[in-house]
Amino acid sequence: MQLDVPRYTERFGAISLHGVQRVYELDSGFIDANSASEALRRIGNEQIFQIERKMAIVIPIKGERLKLLEGVLSGIPHDCLTIIVSNSPRQPVDRYKLEKDSLEQFNRFVGKSSLILHQKDPGLSDALREIGYMSIFDSDGMVRNGKAEGMMVGMLLAKMAGKEYVGFIDADNYVPGAVNEYVKIFASGIAMSNTPYTMVRVSWIYKPKVSESGLYFSKWGRVSEITNQYLNSMVSYYTGFETEVMRTGNSGEHCISMKLAELLTYSSGFSVEPYEIVNVLEEFGGIIPTENQEAMDKGIEIMQVETRNPHFHEEKGDVHLKEMFNGSLGCIYHSKICPPKLREKIIEELRGKNVIDEGQIPDLLQKISPFKNIEISQFSKILHSRATSFAYSG
Ligand code: GDP
Ligand code: CO
Repeated sequence: MQLDVPRYTERFGAISLHGVQRVYELDSGFIDANSASEALRRIGNEQIFQIERKMAIVIPIKGERLKLLEGVLSGIPHDCLTIIVSNSPRQPVDRYKLEKDSLEQFNRFVGKSSLILHQKDPGLSDALREIGYMSIFDSDGMVRNGKAEGMMVGMLLAKMAGKEYVGFIDADNYVPGAVNEYVKIFASGIAMSNTPYTMVRVSWIYKPKVSESGLYFSKWGRVSEITNQYLNSMVSYYTGFETEVMRTGNSGEHCISMKLAELLTYSSGFSVEPYEIVNVLEEFGGIIPTENQEAMDKGIEIMQVETRNPHFHEEKGDVHLKEMFNGSLGCIYHSKICPPKLREKIIEELRGKNVIDEGQIPDLLQKISPFKNIEISQFSKILHSRATSFAYSG
């Protein structure tokens, strides 16, 4: 892959927040070679392959159409470990079984290694309880509903499998070629980073909408534009300089090095992506004390790479949109480092969009603790013996 070196970087404590980088060539050949221009980096296929071998791709899924999942599976590079964490209904039709059968058939055909697990498997909650990792539980002692919870379980499986990088790709993507590009972007970002504490986020070039006059290639999702604006305001408040650096606040497609992933606190449900940024600012921004001095010393890099493929996914309607606004702005609102002025603006924004009523504040969502210190071998042992939905191949 050939892409921009970061041209513009906002520094915030130990964090380097890089501006959006473009892709010039999806495939730049086998070997690492110098680019013709100093502003570009050429990452060879050999290097990408070496990183993909150490990468797990987590697909959170809840009741998506099987055809879409099958397309996504076909787009993931062979050498990545695929991990599906499902919260699909098991009755009246066992949707999970269909997903599992479909994955197993795919694996058999192509000889690929994969894991699949249901989020609500009682054996999974047993394993988590045993190691004392319960911030992910509902009041009934099972893993909560939510995309973040699915991602979290996926990260634990990736750690269990000894992977160094974990990427996330939604199951409702219509374009397998886009999925493939996301992973190449993840690997290229990792190759370019200068620290073991790295996050690579995908910025979609277009998010097309179907309109009466045909396809409309819009640049921004309805929620992401606003989320980015508030994340940027938060950074600006501390630096004293306005910035537009943050462009991927709601990006579901992103990759984190395990060393960084296990230090972060995650926010429940759909606020998970923007809160990753908020939490990185909280932990490593130097505003409040941190226990992670080693990461502070080495530095944290956040990269944002713009795709060549447009992003086509399932459109899910307005209820979902309000939940997204509430979660995304709410996690900024409730942050320990959110300035009071920004809190006021968030309230105004949410009031204006009829997301909250007069006198209300956004929901305070549950948080999931860092998993750095969990007993992963113990988790693995119990999971393998008790989680009946768990299947692996390869
Ligand atoms: P959007 O793309 O941000 O509008 O959100 P989606 O509704 O497409 O959700 C993103 C991904 O998360 C999709 O693959 C969903 O199937 C999946 N997802 C949503 N809720 C859950 C959940 O509770 N658990 C799991 N494991 N996945 C979920
Ligand atoms: Co979607």
